[in-house]
Amino acid sequence: MMGEAGGHYCSKKTDDICGALCSQETGRFSSFSRLCCALRGVDMKTYIFLLVIVPTCLLAGYIHGQKISYFLRPLWESPPKPFHDIPHYHHSNASMATLCKLHGWGVREFPRRVYDAVLFSNELDILSIRWRELYPYITQFVLLESNSTFTGLPKPLVFASHRDEFSFIESRLTYGSLGGRFIKGMNPFYEEAYQRVALDQLLRIAGITDDDLLLMSDVDEIPSRHTINLLRWCDEVPKILHLRLKNYLYSFEFLVDNKSWRASVHRYETGKTRYAHYRQSDEILADAGWHCSFCFRRISEFVFKMKAYSHSDRVRFRRFLNPERVQRVICKGGDLFDMLPEEYTFKDIIGKMGPIPHSFSAVHLPSYLLENAEKYRFLLPGNCIREKEC
Ligand SMILES: *[C@@H]1O[C@H](CO)[C@@H](O)[C@H](O)[C@H]1NC(C)=O
Ligand SMILES: *[C@@H]1O[C@H](CO)[C@@H](O)[C@H](O)[C@H]1NC(C)=O
Ligand SMILES: *[C@@H]1O[C@H](CO)[C@@H](O)[C@H](O)[C@H]1NC(C)=O
Repeated sequence: MMGEAGGHYCSKKTDDICGALCSQETGRFSSFSRLCCALRGVDMKTYIFLLVIVPTCLLAGYIHGQKISYFLRPLWESPPKPFHDIPHYHHSNASMATLCKLHGWGVREFPRRVYDAVLFSNELDILSIRWRELYPYITQFVLLESNSTFTGLPKPLVFASHRDEFSFIESRLTYGSLGGRFIKGMNPFYEEAYQRVALDQLLRIAGITDDDLLLMSDVDEIPSRHTINLLRWCDEVPKILHLRLKNYLYSFEFLVDNKSWRASVHRYETGKTRYAHYRQSDEILADAGWHCSFCFRRISEFVFKMKAYSHSDRVRFRRFLNPERVQRVICKGGDLFDMLPEEYTFKDIIGKMGPIPHSFSAVHLPSYLLENAEKYRFLLPGNCIREKEC
């Protein structure tokens, strides 16, 4: 038996509940009943559509929107003008005169001085492989670090506190540190540009002069030693020459492609040469070294980098930073940001979808890496497990 007081809530046909509410004339409509009245006459299928399908679509759009826009990129963006690729000749037995001639360049009587300048964040392992690889041919190593990441997070001066591990370089090192500006909500590319301008000043302090060579690249873009030797000995090398590097991700186990192009070598001109990391000429030298992105020893370094780098907006969900997930993605050769390949043609996007195939080659890698294979095991094929503690 139903209580009379609540009678109108208890009509037998539940989908008539609104009808019952609307016909009540108590004058005390709840907002629920008002909504009911507005929707009166809309049938059940429409309810399902509004309450289930629409939110599902919005959620899918939110989660996969970036993917959809990347997949459609070939429709709205055409590829940049292709580089002019210069073939690269090398054999350890060939004389410098022979090699320069093969490239169509003359040979010099004495080599140019070479400056290597980098903005440093926290990539200590890759830095030591880089500096050992380049050591024989670099006049001055110039390193600048800031106590702010590009995204405006405070960071310790990591190099300063590990400087004693790089004593082999001390006599050729110009080190600078920079106070971050910590402006809230600023585009990370402005902080990056600010640090590059400071690097220009540090280069002058380091004593760079006209006609010296200046290597502009990120720490993880490592030209091979013989490439730098070739460029310092040959004459008539293009004044600004990009270097084509092999792109690796996580370690030398995952060869993504051979298309890294940002690193460049400049013949320095006072007042004209500016430290930059974008395209500055059309000339590029083939097969000139390695670019190892996200090549870290510890999971904590991956997480730091994901938050700190200029594309940190790609961390769309906190679960992306979960250490177990990061470890799984590394071993699979997957994408830390769950994104599609950034390519300009459908053929390239589809060709690169899914995990990166494992490589079993450790041939032609930086020499210091192989000489210290035990210390840098995590960079070699078959060693995807990373250290967990900080
Ligand atoms: C390299 O040079 C050495 C000595 O000049 C010679 O014995 C050797 O056969 C050469 N190797 C190659 C691969 O040409
Ligand atoms: C960063 O460095 C500047 C200059 O050395 C200093 O004034 C500032 O307090 C530092 N900020 C942080 C967060 O360490
Ligand atoms: C990159 O170049 C190497 C030879 O230098 C080749 O063996 C490899 O298949 C190329 N990889 C890709 C992904 O194009």
